[in-house]
Amino acid sequence: MPSLSHRALQFRPSPTLALDSRVKAMRAKGADIVNLGVGEPDFPSPVNVKLAAIKAIEEDFTRYTATEGLLELREAICRKLKVDNSLSYLPNQIVVSNGGKHALHNIFQCLFQEGDEVLIPAPYWTTYPDLISLTGAKAVIVETEEKDDYLLSPQALRKALKKETKGLILNSPANPTGMVYSREHLEKLAEVIIEKEDLWVVSDDIYEKLLYDKTSFSNLAMAAPKLFDRVVIAHGVSKTYSMTGWRIGFLAGPESLAKAAGKFQSQTTSSPCSVAQKAALAALEGPQEEAELMRRTFEQRRLLALDILNHTAGFSCLEPKGAFYLLPDVSENFGRVLEGIKIQDSEDLAQVLLNQCLVACVPGDFFGRPGTLRFSYAASDDDLRRGLTKIAKFLA
Ligand SMILES: Cc1ncc(COP(=O)(O)O)c(C=O)c1O
Repeated sequence: MPSLSHRALQFRPSPTLALDSRVKAMRAKGADIVNLGVGEPDFPSPVNVKLAAIKAIEEDFTRYTATEGLLELREAICRKLKVDNSLSYLPNQIVVSNGGKHALHNIFQCLFQEGDEVLIPAPYWTTYPDLISLTGAKAVIVETEEKDDYLLSPQALRKALKKETKGLILNSPANPTGMVYSREHLEKLAEVIIEKEDLWVVSDDIYEKLLYDKTSFSNLAMAAPKLFDRVVIAHGVSKTYSMTGWRIGFLAGPESLAKAAGKFQSQTTSSPCSVAQKAALAALEGPQEEAELMRRTFEQRRLLALDILNHTAGFSCLEPKGAFYLLPDVSENFGRVLEGIKIQDSEDLAQVLLNQCLVACVPGDFFGRPGTLRFSYAASDDDLRRGLTKIAKFLA
């Protein structure tokens, strides 16, 4: 058989989606697994979203749309960016794609290439390095400290910048830490970024609406208007509106980038699903009560989960301010022998917890932070309490 491309041999499956498949397979065999591994709200999509999609189908709104997304949806996105973020965009600066991940892929393909380096603060969302590698650029991991709430410090950023550095990825609220950049912190980062004139900043704002304790949202374009033309926002409806399966995300950035991303998308996937775009429009423009109820539920679950984890032997966890993840340091458990297995790292521990407690979580190694485990609290109160209590009892 002829060989596959070098690129194909490089692909790694998304570890979180791979875990999800494993959990589904174990469940199919009858195992009662509590899945705290997957980053997906456990709520239905809002009623008005579902009705908008049904209406779109009934009205035969089932053909290709403009490649870069329906004009009315791009206008609604501009209104959202104006109202929520005080940022002024025109529809020709927006490209709607098949989810936030696809928006990031389009952005990276249009900004980065061989010879470039792109800075990714760790812990990071597991997909960033792989998507950057696909552009031919080098993903450069910049470590952050737990004592700094895992946020990139201006000093670490300054140290990491090189001639080849072409991009920086910021994600707030963050997956997997749940940490949030304040406006003041972003202003300090901006002082460093402004000096490096050929640096793009990709701001992944997908968890913008999932913020707790009255924490307010800011991104670099909001904190440093001077950098507006160098910031590209990646966003979407998946997390805010529990619409992960509808696959609608978007980018907002300079017109030249949006134009390039539109062309790239026209040759790769064409327009996103017409029906899902109508649903996303309803999500953005319709009543926000269901999304707010979901946010409040996550806010409470976060404390429930945090309390159990911080009472679990060898676990210590910062209090997250957003998203729906907890990233406890579990390294005190390394060296222990559990059910005959010597625990050497997070992968060993996650495996034992899956086998013995029937709870799925993700080793922090996949997020650039060995010694931790990532738990998602986008699960029912009952599952959270049951799953985490089992772990606490098992490790006690
Ligand atoms: C940080 C971050 N960005 C982007 C995405 C992509 O979201 P979507 O499902 O819309 O592709 C995710 C999904 O887990 C995420 O955690």
